[in-house]
Amino acid sequence: MNEDLVNKDLKIYLKKNIFPKYKKLYAHGLEHINYVIHHSFIIAKDYDVDPNMIYCIACYHDLGLLKISTERNNHAIESGKILQADQNLKRFFITEQIQIMKEAVEEHSGDQNQRPRNIYGEIVSDADRDLEIPTLAKRQLQTSIKYYPELTTFEEHFERCYKYILERNKKKFNLWTKNDTIKSMMTSFKNQFLDKETTKKIYRSAWEKIESAKLKEKFINYYKD
Ligand SMILES: [Fe+2]
Ligand SMILES: [Fe+2]
Repeated sequence: MNEDLVNKDLKIYLKKNIFPKYKKLYAHGLEHINYVIHHSFIIAKDYDVDPNMIYCIACYHDLGLLKISTERNNHAIESGKILQADQNLKRFFITEQIQIMKEAVEEHSGDQNQRPRNIYGEIVSDADRDLEIPTLAKRQLQTSIKYYPELTTFEEHFERCYKYILERNKKKFNLWTKNDTIKSMMTSFKNQFLDKETTKKIYRSAWEKIESAKLKEKFINYYKD
């Protein structure tokens, strides 16, 4: 299974109407959505699932971040509401499919301990994991700058980010599906991350790019997340 199997009209609808909404998001912007679409299809190969639903779920899964201002943890529930409320999806899906997609979106967050209610939730949850350090560095530094204004130097931000990921790797970072590619990406990510000096170099280069593009102000005042 691959992305080419997705209904052309559905793709056009989503690209025209849903993708542009991610312009106000940085860490969870379009680059992240495309990453989740790509990895969802890598995992979906192992299952008997509907490519249109896989694609659609990935497209909506972080939209809730546009709605919330304080409770970031609720964004998955908000994303589910947005998907279910979109009447245009009725042109492409029956009610039962929309319900399954809503449930999947609601349960995409990697830090939830409970197994998602359906296979689509398992797929989007595993596809949503950050398993590439350069991408993680860029996204995590943005979040850190936005939500921790009391931190000012690279060292301070890096130490906070590093500690957070180390804890997450130890506790609640399990995969629901059994895809070999994702599994080995997860293992090498965890191993590479432990090499603090190399990881720090990657974060420093992301930090320098943020500084030279003068993005800090935009992180705080323009991007919602
Ligand atoms: Fe999310
Ligand atoms: Fe996401």
